[in-house]
Amino acid sequence: MKKKIMAVFGTRPEAIKMAPLLKKLENEKNYELTITVTAQHREMLDQVLNLFALKADYDLDIMQPKQTLNELTARIINKLADVLKKEKPDLLLVHGDTSTTFVSALAAFYQQISVAHVEAGLRTHVKYSPFPEEMNRQLTGVLADLHFAPTKKAAENLLSENIEKDKIYITGNTVIDALFSVVDKNYSFQNPVLKEIDFEKKDVLLLTAHRRENLGEPMENIFRAVRDLTAELPDLEVVFPVHLNPLIRELSKKMLGDNSQIHLIEPLDYLPFVNLMARSKIILTDSGGIQEEAPSLAKPVLVLRDTTERPEALEAGTVIKVGTEYQAIYQQSLKLLKDEAEYKRRAAAVNPYGDGKASERIIKALDYYFAFSQERAADFKG
Ligand code: UD1
Ligand code: UDP
Repeated sequence: MKKKIMAVFGTRPEAIKMAPLLKKLENEKNYELTITVTAQHREMLDQVLNLFALKADYDLDIMQPKQTLNELTARIINKLADVLKKEKPDLLLVHGDTSTTFVSALAAFYQQISVAHVEAGLRTHVKYSPFPEEMNRQLTGVLADLHFAPTKKAAENLLSENIEKDKIYITGNTVIDALFSVVDKNYSFQNPVLKEIDFEKKDVLLLTAHRRENLGEPMENIFRAVRDLTAELPDLEVVFPVHLNPLIRELSKKMLGDNSQIHLIEPLDYLPFVNLMARSKIILTDSGGIQEEAPSLAKPVLVLRDTTERPEALEAGTVIKVGTEYQAIYQQSLKLLKDEAEYKRRAAAVNPYGDGKASERIIKALDYYFAFSQERAADFKG
């Protein structure tokens, strides 16, 4: 008898990281897959669904401009409850640490449906950093029946919270599966701004910023530092694909909009974005996913946060935790851009997050869980 698996996700990074797994699951004979999107993000989610040719069976369409966490939570739980009641899946598959992730796991619990958590066990152990993601993932961990930890460190975090060892699988991160499927050395950009940049002659600094705890003064510091870097370095080009959050759009336009070395562009599709990372010199970001992808592409990353739940690349040296103070961002960026030896040291390719086979391991783990197989999946050894 086939088992019914429902995947629920809602934002851009969840979609990117679920895509390789769902494309594989679609072809598995033991499972009947249903895809439900909350559409916590709208355009940024649809970009990914189109790229990977994923079709949602249910679209809860909950996004509102400037949505609050309360509104998000209420809309997701009420709408998802009806879908779960109708479909009665054997297992709900969630990813990561967004409000969609936690609230979907809670909705499943209320109907006594098992939950599997992809990208389980990431921790800063600081309640409000990142906010609300640290609590979203911890609470999801409490509710989950199966934990797919990307790395050994993530698995150790779960063990230290008394989660049973046999419910934890070390799989590698599915983002590396996704990344391997799209990097293309011969890629040429369609975006009119990117088409004009001479990546051979110019140093490109790629910037992304969206964290809730960075809204306000920290983001002003980031933007000021980047602006001042362009004044110091005439050959620097900054590319900033601006998140669709209206608060970020307003501030970035106000502070960076009139600088000819700074290009504020729309969020890029995953394919051009990855290829832009590959051609940039350094990356400044508060993103989680980008911290995992950049080391694979041998690109140094300055993380615009005080904490990170991804210590592996920090230890390897490709990622530097720089925080959100003006001086630190300005000085560290300048050092990387000007000091060739320091740059070389930071730009070594490392791959602590995966080997491109995470989806395969997750499916093997599901087979074992549902007794389609007697063999437990072997762990990813980073
Ligand atoms: C969400 C997640 C965060 C994740 C991030 C990835 C929560 C609470 N936050 O943060 O963990 O790192 O996604 O990007 O789960 N908007 C659009 N169109 C879109 C997407 C967003 O207009 O396609 C605008 C809307 O006005 C929306 C706002 O951005 O209200 C914020 O979106 P939201 O999902 O609440 O927060 P993010 O900061 O994107
Ligand atoms: N990304 C993208 N287009 C962009 C910016 C980012 O496709 O313009 C991808 C990026 O490669 C990574 C993911 O989106 O896989 C990260 O999403 P985001 O930074 O929004 O969320 P986080 O990872 O912080 O949760």
